[in-house]
Amino acid sequence: MRMGHTLLWKLEFILVLYSLLHSGLTQDAVLTIRPKRSTYFIGEVLTFHCDMNEGRRGDWEYKFIKDGQTFHDYYTNPTFNLNHLYKEDRGVYQCCGRNKGSNTKCSNTVSIHVSADKPKSKLTAGTTTVTLRCSVDQSDGWKYEWFRRTSTIAEYRINDGENGEIRVSQGGIYSCRGFRGEPAFYSDKSDEVTIKITLSTKVIVTQKPSWSQMFMGETITLTCEVQGGEGVQWEYQWRTPQSQTSWRNYKDWTFTASISGGYSCRSRPQDDSYSLIKWSEALRLSVLAHKLKAELKMTKSPVEGTVTLKCSVKSSSSGWRFFWFRGEKSSKLLTTQEAVFLSNGQISVSQEGVYRCRGGRGEPVYHTEFSDPVIIGVEKPKAKLTAGTTTVSVGDEVTLICSVEKSDGWKYEWFRRTSTISEYRKYDGENGEIRVSEGGIYSCRGFRGKPAFYSDTSNEVTITITQPVLRVSGWWLSPGSSVTLSCEVEHESAGWSFYWYKAVPDLSHKSASYSYELLPASSNGTADNSYIIHGQTHTAGYVCRAGRGEPHVYTLYSQPHFVWSGDLHPSASLSVSPDRVQHFTSDSVSLTCEGNSAEWRVGSFLLPDLLSFCSDWGTMNGSTCHVQKIQSSNAVFWCESGSAFSNAVNITGHNDDLILLSPVHPVTEGHSLTLGCKLRTENLLSKVVFYQNDTLIQNDSRVEMIIPAVSKSHEGFYKCQSSGKESPQSWLTVKCQ
Ligand SMILES: *[C@@H]1O[C@H](CO)[C@@H](O)[C@H](O)[C@H]1NC(C)=O
Ligand SMILES: *[C@@H]1O[C@H](CO)[C@@H](O)[C@H](O)[C@H]1NC(C)=O
Ligand SMILES: *[C@@H]1O[C@H](CO)[C@@H](O)[C@H](O)[C@H]1NC(C)=O
Ligand SMILES: *[C@@H]1O[C@H](CO)[C@@H](O)[C@H](O)[C@H]1NC(C)=O
Ligand SMILES: *[C@@H]1O[C@H](CO)[C@@H](O)[C@H](O)[C@H]1NC(C)=O
Repeated sequence: MRMGHTLLWKLEFILVLYSLLHSGLTQDAVLTIRPKRSTYFIGEVLTFHCDMNEGRRGDWEYKFIKDGQTFHDYYTNPTFNLNHLYKEDRGVYQCCGRNKGSNTKCSNTVSIHVSADKPKSKLTAGTTTVTLRCSVDQSDGWKYEWFRRTSTIAEYRINDGENGEIRVSQGGIYSCRGFRGEPAFYSDKSDEVTIKITLSTKVIVTQKPSWSQMFMGETITLTCEVQGGEGVQWEYQWRTPQSQTSWRNYKDWTFTASISGGYSCRSRPQDDSYSLIKWSEALRLSVLAHKLKAELKMTKSPVEGTVTLKCSVKSSSSGWRFFWFRGEKSSKLLTTQEAVFLSNGQISVSQEGVYRCRGGRGEPVYHTEFSDPVIIGVEKPKAKLTAGTTTVSVGDEVTLICSVEKSDGWKYEWFRRTSTISEYRKYDGENGEIRVSEGGIYSCRGFRGKPAFYSDTSNEVTITITQPVLRVSGWWLSPGSSVTLSCEVEHESAGWSFYWYKAVPDLSHKSASYSYELLPASSNGTADNSYIIHGQTHTAGYVCRAGRGEPHVYTLYSQPHFVWSGDLHPSASLSVSPDRVQHFTSDSVSLTCEGNSAEWRVGSFLLPDLLSFCSDWGTMNGSTCHVQKIQSSNAVFWCESGSAFSNAVNITGHNDDLILLSPVHPVTEGHSLTLGCKLRTENLLSKVVFYQNDTLIQNDSRVEMIIPAVSKSHEGFYKCQSSGKESPQSWLTVKCQ
């Protein structure tokens, strides 16, 4: 009996062994877990299913094993549910079955991993702003729910399938969560993702009125139009060159034009502040700050007795209407009884009067300034300017009177210009009478009314400040003779006293500046307009002026007048290098001052009256004035220190091919003198002929003329001839011993 039992056990063992050995032949038992996940979470529901793959289902009983321990013993149900997973449920599972024939077989093993954490959904937005992706980490088998809210709309579930990826066309705050299983097991909600959507729709800005040029103060309406935006309530925002408006529900924006620049708008649905249409292209607004002035022109009319007036506004943009006025009153518009209104801003009128117009446009109307008036039928009144006298002494005043004939109520404007100052309005009140003490060319005009109506401008009156002219008996001093100065003033008879001065160089100024020293016996003025100086041997400058009245009113000082001496003087002398009177125009010449001064100024006088200094035509280095290229001229040169004038020299520049070589300084009687001749080409001369006072004085083989001892009779004009050319002539001065 006992042995039989052992045998039976053995047999059973063998059968089990057999079934194990033949597992490859018969079908394997399979344990499946539904749902199949890589990771399970606490609280999830899970179903084990055991399939013997052999015989009918009712033939078997099933048991479930975890980690080698049976936790659910044989029972007829091949499935086993875990309705709430715990962390401890992780492990290796297997099931075994036995059938009526005590046949037993066990399944494969399946590992279950239960995560300690609650799963969380992760929401990611795709690279395009409209694709959202939801996922639950490291696990699978999820379906998804989607939620949207905005700052004003409470969260709701979007019915958009259960995929892990959706496309949204609305902005908003999105979240998702996963769910799986039956009943649904939910993951935690994802973090919220704010989706801002740039809508591909376009907005455009339109302008009304559509004038290209606006003027400050005009009213303008811009409209923000969403293209194809029907059926959606939009709100709008504006960007100006300086700021940005808040969001508003209306697409028209009416404002007063003041700033030029780009204006753009953008738009978004009123219920969705997360969706946005991009800024429109900017509408460029050009706003002019100044008021335009209307222009009024008169043309001949084809109809006898009428004229055509045309009003215009110089503006690139359009939309102007014109308003017409007659008379001083600018409040009453012309009526159709008074004018025939033509097209293009033109009217035809037959009544005399002062006409004006102005332009206007828009609603409310923006007006330009009034045009200048046009007078029809009556001539424009002319202003007349009269002056008490046209010459005035220094410090004296002259009265100018302006008037507009045969009418009253005028105010006056005054104008002055000179040869160097362009005309300007001289503000001197608005009276018809002013007093002026400045020289210049004066004119005036009258105006009255508001807006001002102007008369024609008056005649011009030239007011000159009296300046006498000083004349001297001769330019070059000759020994023993006196110098006679005469001072010439306009209206000589008018009781002038004359004042006589010596010019003293003032070197603190770069050029032509002298101070004046009264000559002896002249301090009370002379009644005579001439003055004689005896014994003047040195170069000097003189000036005069006249005065009269009590207290004295003087004329300007005259221009200085010079008298020159060629005599060298140790206290102030001028030497010339090369030492000759005549020079070719290409020659450079040095003028050197010497004497009792460290500072010199080199003056030049080009007859009859051009006084200039080295700084005008040369460069001063120390006490030498260098002239790069001497001009074609005939000028006198001298040196000036703060107290003295030097000898003066004649220097002439010539375009000729031949010049005479003669000394610049006077030759002393008894001294020898050599005259020569020079070609511009520097070629040596073979034969030269010399003339004195146009008389041939030397005609032989010599190229120079040598006078061993000069006498007064040698004074005169000299020239030379050679190679068929002739030099200009120059004066030779001979001075007594
Ligand atoms: C100038 O006049 C005053 C008085 O009027 C007189 O005292 C003075 O001597 C006069 N001078 C000359 C230089 O005539
Ligand atoms: C300069 O030339 C003039 C004639 O043009 C003459 O009278 C005068 O004496 C000359 N001066 C000198 C210094 O030669
Ligand atoms: C000025 O003269 C000095 C001495 O003759 C010379 O050395 C110098 O180079 C000159 N200067 C100019 C600018 O010519
Ligand atoms: C100079 O003398 C020569 C010969 O004596 C003569 O031929 C010539 O004509 C003279 N020249 C002038 C300008 O008189
Ligand atoms: C040359 O002419 C000048 C002025 O015309 C005169 O002063 C001089 O005496 C004359 N000389 C001769 C030698 O004729």
